[in-house]
Amino acid sequence: RITYVNGDYLPESEAKVSIFDRGFLMADGVYEVTTVIGGKLIDFPGHMARLKRSLGELAMAAPAGEEEILAIHRELVRRNELDEGLVYLQVTRGAADRDFAFPPEGTAPSLVLFTQKLAVLERETVRRGLKVASVPDLRWARRDIKTVQLLYPTLAKMEAKAKGADDAWMVDDEGLVTEGSSNNAYIVAGGKVVTRPLSHSILHGITRGAVLALTASTGIELEERPFSLAEAKAAEEAFITSASAFVTPVVSIDGVPLGTGAPGPVAARLRELYIAESL
Ligand code: PDD
Repeated sequence: RITYVNGDYLPESEAKVSIFDRGFLMADGVYEVTTVIGGKLIDFPGHMARLKRSLGELAMAAPAGEEEILAIHRELVRRNELDEGLVYLQVTRGAADRDFAFPPEGTAPSLVLFTQKLAVLERETVRRGLKVASVPDLRWARRDIKTVQLLYPTLAKMEAKAKGADDAWMVDDEGLVTEGSSNNAYIVAGGKVVTRPLSHSILHGITRGAVLALTASTGIELEERPFSLAEAKAAEEAFITSASAFVTPVVSIDGVPLGTGAPGPVAARLRELYIAESL
């Protein structure tokens, strides 16, 4: 695989960053994941807009202009002959002597990208549906910023797997579901799609935005409001969205089957519509 590191296209064996990089030492960095289908980048402008927002919220300098970042994505897709998969992008505050204060002005941000081959359209999880397990949401309070602080979501996913589930749904102190370990969470209740409104509590998913726009155009009723774990367990169906999962059904929560216990029709419809729109 060819990767991109601070201006250079390099084979992965030569792709290296400093041990003083603040991403490595302090998780002082942000990232984006853009899906690729048929060599085409899905929802790219949305990912760039969110990157800009994450950088702004952390007072981090942009490593390159949007046009240049798009060109790097395309060049990596081309060089790696990537048909289906994703492009990962990470920006950190750069390499500097370890200090909790930001590094001196002029320290160059660091920019790395790589591609990953991945089946996106055909997935076993879509056919069988995901089992999720609830865990307390112990992340920091600015989950709207897409930082590389992914330790807790990793632990949450491992805890869910240890319980025989595929993924975790995180629950706040009030018993309300925030989101999945790396995806947004939805239920279908009373025939309506219900999902938590945007705030600092969840990541503003790019796929979420696209899928919610689709509900409006197809007459599927939508309620943006928090929902509890108890309500979710009694829901007709549930699903998640993310760049790589698109829309993927959830069939059980903490071992409680939802509806018929099979992937639901609303999730299937939204997945179909999202794919049709994206290709
Ligand atoms: N995760 N919520 C969280 C906590 C996420 O990490 C993600 C994305 C999402 C969905 O956002 P989007 O639709 O923009 O992908 C929601 C990416 C895919 C990842 O970490 O791999």
